[in-house]
Amino acid sequence: MASSAQLVAAKADFQRTLLAWYRAHARSLPWRDAPSLYKTVVSEFMLQQTQVKTVLPYLARWLAQFPDFAALAAAPEAQVLKSWEGLGYYSRARNLHRLAQAIAAQPEPPRLPAAWRELPGVGPYTAAAITSISFSHPAACVDGNVVRILARLTADATPFRDSASAARAFTPLAEALLATDNPGDHNQAMMELGATVCFRQKPLCLSCPVRGCCIAGQRGDPEDFPQLAAKKMEQVAVTRAWIEREGLLLLHLTPAGARRFANMHELPTAAQAGWSDDDVARGKLIAKKKRGITRYQITESIHAADAPRGKLPADLAWVPLTEITTITLSGPHRRWISEELSKRRRQMVI
Ligand code: ADE
Repeated sequence: MASSAQLVAAKADFQRTLLAWYRAHARSLPWRDAPSLYKTVVSEFMLQQTQVKTVLPYLARWLAQFPDFAALAAAPEAQVLKSWEGLGYYSRARNLHRLAQAIAAQPEPPRLPAAWRELPGVGPYTAAAITSISFSHPAACVDGNVVRILARLTADATPFRDSASAARAFTPLAEALLATDNPGDHNQAMMELGATVCFRQKPLCLSCPVRGCCIAGQRGDPEDFPQLAAKKMEQVAVTRAWIEREGLLLLHLTPAGARRFANMHELPTAAQAGWSDDDVARGKLIAKKKRGITRYQITESIHAADAPRGKLPADLAWVPLTEITTITLSGPHRRWISEELSKRRRQMVI
């Protein structure tokens, strides 16, 4: 087996072997065992940037709370965000909510990828996943997992500057290999192979159903593919203020309509609290946290600070510490605040 042309020439074998393996080895997952369009859409949104094992408990709660498009469409945004709390990338929740409202307003959901792509939060991958799984539309899903499989099968050493350009470059091959009589299972089989066998590091080539067609696997250098430029990470420092008085904590509430974090609470940055970074950094250090978001490596320092002077800006709110669990906080902020509160409880016990 050599080039992508030879792989395409042997595609009947490739498809048969891949599908037989999928039928025997696919994990049992809620959107596979009792599929519906709604479950497929919700799971595909949750699975954008998030692993299956993280998604499962969220999906179960979500389906109980919003069982169909109509229920989701009718829910207030605050409730939708609260249910998404902790999954991150909150624009997905807002887009899913708006998508449900658009679908609920139409007599029939669309069936073609181009029509799905008109809806909020649906890119080429999600449109292909939804239409192939729910309507057997012959569209190939190409994400990082699929790129990795295709680059290894063909030992394609083209250097790519990022994963989006790699996905575009491999789309014709993915389409040429697609089992058009069963595109939903074919796409899910590729996803499953990427998630459970063709790992980025230490792939399980000996257990791979398509190792007979894989150049890199046979040569023993699968980890060299695909050749993606390392992400350039930008360092960002953020100073945040912990401002508390009489059992109330001052939080920033991002206004509805903001592009990111709309309707979510967070510990305020120094500037949001009306101070300079230097002013706040002089206060007692409560915690220092590092996290990566897309291409940013963010270091957040949380310091005790005084309440802002003068009238409180409209996007700041005093929240009783006893009510912290009922408001919507972004995941890391919920963790940081609970860590601080439980640290105090431990100190009180001692
Ligand atoms: N990742 C994205 N979509 C998926 C699916 N349908 N099954 C497993 N993993 C996925």
